[in-house]
Amino acid sequence: MSAPLNTSTAPTASTGPMIALSNVSKWYGDFKVLTNCTTAVNKGEVVVVCGPSGSGKSTLIKCVNALEPFQEGQIVVDGTPVRDKRTNLPKLRARVGMVFQHFELFPHLSIADNLTLAQTMVLGRNKDAALSTGMALLDRVGLSAHAKKFPGQLSGGQQQRVAIARALAMNPIVMLFDEPTSALDPEMVGEVLDVMVQLAREGMTMMCVTHEMGFARKVANRVIFMDKGEIVEDATKDDFFGHARSERAQNFLSKILQH
Ligand SMILES: Nc1ncnc2c1ncn2[C@@H]1O[C@H](COP(=O)(O)OP(=O)(O)OP(=O)(O)O)[C@@H](O)[C@H]1O
Ligand SMILES: [Mg+2]
Repeated sequence: MSAPLNTSTAPTASTGPMIALSNVSKWYGDFKVLTNCTTAVNKGEVVVVCGPSGSGKSTLIKCVNALEPFQEGQIVVDGTPVRDKRTNLPKLRARVGMVFQHFELFPHLSIADNLTLAQTMVLGRNKDAALSTGMALLDRVGLSAHAKKFPGQLSGGQQQRVAIARALAMNPIVMLFDEPTSALDPEMVGEVLDVMVQLAREGMTMMCVTHEMGFARKVANRVIFMDKGEIVEDATKDDFFGHARSERAQNFLSKILQH
């Protein structure tokens, strides 16, 4: 048996949902980008967020770890209200792993250094402990031979697996993904999805913006469909694929499932 991808042993503070959004609204100037978004992600749940371009998926997910401010409503992550002035946002963000479309590894640092920097700087781990955690996770994503390389020497799929390992090295309580495979060449999508599937099966709480419906079918508990800043559907996987209720979701599905 291989070591689990999720090395987190940290107990969670609350018994409620891991992520709870209630009536979240956000404006960019006059433009209302999110309207009354309400949903919850329970511990161990995998929720896929999909919807047309510009519907607010990235914005929604960035609000969860306060990379974007929002003006109305509330988001609570493991009992911590994100919009509360007393909340220590760096501390919260350290516990919420985020993987973006563009891997955002530090180009001037080796893979090993990419994996250890935040562990030492943010979590205060000593270098040996950080390296051993980083190497275990690098092995887990199948890349231990590449520790000394720089990001530019790896393929896109490999860099994205490093980015996932780097996020996991922080022992996150939840992982957020924003289209982690959409910038990859098709032959590399599978290797990244495999890592995500394994993570989901190990019980990681995940909120994933993705249009990879094969992934959604395999591991999602629920699918959220957004359009024009609203959560139009929030359904179990079977309901969503079986009988998505809204016309907008049906249209969207018929378009992406053609491919
Ligand atoms: N910093 C910003 N300032 C102003 N408007 C923005 C900003 N970021 C995003 N928007 C607008 O907000 C809307 C939602 O953007 P967002 O990136 O959340 O959509 P998305 O669903 O993730 O789209 P995509 O599928 O293309 O990634 C879009 O109309 C976008 O143009
Ligand atoms: Mg987006």
